[in-house]
Amino acid sequence: MKSGCENAGRGMRSQELKVAMHAVTFTKRPIVRFRHSSFRFFFNQSHVSCPMPVTTRPATAADLDAINAIYNHYVEHSTCTYQTVPSTTQERRDWFDAHGTEHPIIVAEENGQIIGWGSLSRFHPRQAYCHSVEDSVYLHHEYQCKGLGTLLLGELLELAKKIGHHTVLGGIDADQQASIALHAKFGFIKVSHLKEVGHKHGRWLDVIWMQKML
Ligand SMILES: CC(C)(COP(=O)(O)OP(=O)(O)OC[C@H]1O[C@@H](n2cnc3c(N)ncnc32)[C@H](O)[C@@H]1OP(=O)(O)O)[C@@H](O)C(=O)NCCC(=O)NCCS
Repeated sequence: MKSGCENAGRGMRSQELKVAMHAVTFTKRPIVRFRHSSFRFFFNQSHVSCPMPVTTRPATAADLDAINAIYNHYVEHSTCTYQTVPSTTQERRDWFDAHGTEHPIIVAEENGQIIGWGSLSRFHPRQAYCHSVEDSVYLHHEYQCKGLGTLLLGELLELAKKIGHHTVLGGIDADQQASIALHAKFGFIKVSHLKEVGHKHGRWLDVIWMQKML
């Protein structure tokens, strides 16, 4: 039986070709190592002898253009976000400023290039929700299905525990199999299904919420 990523790969030929042009073939299973406070991650490559490191670290203001470019691709081409108008640089800066130490933003970097990011955001602005967070993980669209989502969500969950949050929620479009599989892999449970609450690209969209208690 094929895994989710292998099935997903059927629609991703052009992306795979682009990655192949870098003369690198990634196998599915990453090797994850820990160095100091940041994660160091090596794609397990079958065609090259030296591993290509992917590191994660807290995001800085200098990363915001790259974060925005990754996200805005999905605003335009996907229903994984219900945002329909791309974020401006100023909006991304405001988003960054609104995330303090209790709501971290992290990036994954390969050879100095941001290839994905993740964040923990307030689940709801009312104060009594302060121990609940919503996670977000967005990869550059050519870097899906290589274990990077696992790397970023795993790190976000570790951070959430250290910070002292109580629960993490993911609001996910019901058709987004990759995101659902990623959350299920970490023990998130589906807790609700909202029917036709979104409308994008000419169709109604259902949202599910998945939740993990820490
Ligand atoms: C969702 C996303 C973050 C997942 O990251 P990823 O690196 O592609 O996922 P991984 O390679 O770490 O795979 C995680 C699990 O999901 C499964 N999976 C990945 N893509 C899948 C797909 N399209 N269908 C079914 N399962 C899938 C994998 O098989 C893996 O499970 P396994 O380890 O048990 O085999 C990434 O695809 C992405 O950025 N998508 C667009 C943005 C988005 O939807 N973000 C989520 C909104 S919060």
